[in-house]
Formats: sequence, C-alpha cells, structure tokens
Amino acid sequence: MSAIHLDSIRKSFGETPVLKNIDLSIRAGEFLTLVGPSGCGKSTLLRILAGLEAPSAGSVSIGDRVVNGVRPANRNLAMVFQSYALYPHLSIEDNMMTPLRLRDLSTAGRLPWIGPLLAREKYREMRRQVEETARVLRIEPLLQRKPGQLSGGQRQRAALGRAMVRKPVAFLMDEPLSNLDAALRIHMRSELAELHRSLKTTFVYVTHDQAEALTMSDRMAVMMDGDILQLGAPDEIYNNPQDIRVAEFVGAPKINLLPGVIDSAGQARCGDVVLSRVGVGAASEKVTIGLRPEHLELAGGDEKGSLTGRLVHRENLGADLYLHLSVQDGAHRMVVRTAPHEIGRVSIGDDVRFVRKRGEAMVFGADGKRIRLSETPAAAVPEVA
Ligand SMILES: Nc1ncnc2c1ncn2[C@@H]1O[C@H](COP(=O)(O)OP(=O)(O)O)[C@@H](O)[C@H]1O
Ligand SMILES: [Mg+2]
Repeated sequence: MSAIHLDSIRKSFGETPVLKNIDLSIRAGEFLTLVGPSGCGKSTLLRILAGLEAPSAGSVSIGDRVVNGVRPANRNLAMVFQSYALYPHLSIEDNMMTPLRLRDLSTAGRLPWIGPLLAREKYREMRRQVEETARVLRIEPLLQRKPGQLSGGQRQRAALGRAMVRKPVAFLMDEPLSNLDAALRIHMRSELAELHRSLKTTFVYVTHDQAEALTMSDRMAVMMDGDILQLGAPDEIYNNPQDIRVAEFVGAPKINLLPGVIDSAGQARCGDVVLSRVGVGAASEKVTIGLRPEHLELAGGDEKGSLTGRLVHRENLGADLYLHLSVQDGAHRMVVRTAPHEIGRVSIGDDVRFVRKRGEAMVFGADGKRIRLSETPAAAVPEVA
C-alpha cells in the first residue's frame, strides 16, 4: 500500500487564492477526513489529488511516484461522487463490471454477444471479482436489479462497489452522504467506517459535517480559508484544539467562549471569576476562554468562582439536558450540559449557578492561538473553582 503526499499545494482561480500552502501526508490504509465549512477548499484539494484539477504550485505523490502529470485514470484512485452516477439501464452487476471491462478487455472482447465468447476466461474472472466485492458490501442479492430498484443506501453501496472492483490505492469521497435523509446518513457513518476496517484501503473523505468527521476518521484535517488549521485524531482535535476556529467548528452544541484577561498572577479571568491559570510567558492581555458544555456543572452551594446565568431555553434530549443561559446581563449565551435528574424545578427566567469542572478550560490569545496552561500546582495562586 502507498502513502499519499501533498507538498506545498497552492491553487488560485484567477486572482483568488483558494488553497494557500497545503502540506498533507496521508498514511497508507487510514481513514482521513478533510473537514471545514463550505467554500474552504476541500473539494478543490481532493480534485487536485484525483488529478481532475491541476495545482498552481506544489506536488502530489502516490507512493514514491510524483503524479502531477499523470491523468486521473492512471492514478489508480477511485473517486466516489455525491451523485451515484450508476448507469440506469444496466444491472448492478453490469455496472460493477464496467470498469473491469474497460481496463481488462480488448476492443473485440468488449463487443456485445461475441465479446463474452471470445474472452470467456476473462469474463469468468471479472464476474468472480464482482461477486467477491458484492459479498463484502452485502449487495449480492441485488446484483440483477437496476439502480432505480434500489434504495438510496443500496445505490450508495453499489456505487462504492463499482469503484472497489478495480482495487484502487485509495477511495476519494466528496460528501457522499449529503443526498441521504438524516437517519440513513447516520446509519451510513458506521457502514462506511466498518467497510473501511474490512477493506483496509485508504479513504480520503470530504465533509462539511464535523460529526461525520469525528465519528468516522482515524485522523481529520480541519480546513478553513484554504489552510489546514490542525490535523489529528478526532479526540485530539476535540479535546486539544490549537486554534479558536477549530474549537468553535468542532463540537455540538458549540464550545462556550467568554472574553477574559490575564491578571498579574497569570490567571485568566472573566470579570471577577478566575477560570484558568495560564502558562508562564503568556504575553497576551486579552484572551478568550473556551469551556465546552460538558465541562461545566451546576453549583451545589455558593462555591467560589461560580457563574450565574438566566435560563432562556432548556433542551431535553433524554439522557442529556442542555441549559441555555444568558450571562453577564445578556452579553453572552452559554450552554451547560447536565442530566435531567440533576436539576430540580428550574423554570425559564430563573437564575442558575454553575461552575467549571476542575482542569477544564481552554485559553486562546488575541491571535486565536491556544495558550498553554500552567502545570504548576496551585500554591502561589489562590484556589480556583
Ligand atoms: N472552477 C472554479 N472556478 C472558480 N472558483 C472556484 C472553482 N472551483 C471552486 N472555486 C472556489 O474555490 C473556493 C473553494 O471551493 P471548494 O473547493 O469547492 O470548497 P468546499 O468543497 O470546501 O466547499 C470557493 O470559494 C469556490 O467558489
Ligand atoms: Mg465541496
């Protein structure tokens, strides 16, 4: 198996830079997701990898081979498109056979009726490959049907099957689930992740949906404005974002962000509430403090360092209850996760007091970059909530 390298990739359409300077190494066999808001350059990067678009600068290599000048068909990558692009008049079996026919047969062998007689051995082998692929995808019973007779999820699998028979170096997928309804989309996440585990082939997957990226990827590259802001495993991206834009993009409900300052003791505070101790040498005066909804809890008594918010909305999801609070006289909205049984009778308009769970806060400088938290024990600084 081959790793894929994108080195110093730039792309402009006319005067507009769309990819700024992308370096990305994709490991052989991994499920890598390019995730970011619409328009950030994900599809363009994938198309450059596929060879459908030429970079303005930089190189693409597969294994040891630079493929910049290589046509898409000769890169041995399988692009699975959003629209399934199956031939409607052919059976699923014939659809899946098409790429093999084009690759393995002479012109004579491709002729109707006579072809299969001339190239009997080849046809038997191709049929075997299609059956094997259909077995992996669990679409064997559907092979004789036409695409119009399949459900959305089955068509998806058939399209994947057609891409799989050629045994490509990698599958490239651009928002393949976006045409499906919500329930099927969630179901297909686990199907795709499972499929990836059984195939062990590299998947490069594009999505604007952070939940898809978190649930399926081995690693995710968070893109914004033509840059990769951070590349890492989903839990690293979620728990340890290095840029405030990554922290905001990943996670639902969104991370709570509060304006703060660093005081003379090196503590990040919001008003008179100390929320975190920052590292030595943190030069930034004005900071933003990030607290995820699950890193907050309701205050029992009147703990030091608690925050107060007015309840404006409660979102009950059964296992979790999200309290939407208006804090600092309505200047900010915060969301606190709790469990339905943990909260007594609280009505809309009531004041709710809550605290940060120990150790859970992220501090970002004025430039949006993460500021390292101090490891030093509390001795020198007053205890924080
Ligand atoms: N062929 C093109 N010509 C001009 N602009 C383009 C072209 N393709 C994409 N763009 C622009 O490049 C930016 C990135 O597009 P794209 O890669 O499709 O983003 P994404 O897939 O992340 O939504 C967008 O602003 C888009 O309008
Ligand atoms: Mg796109």
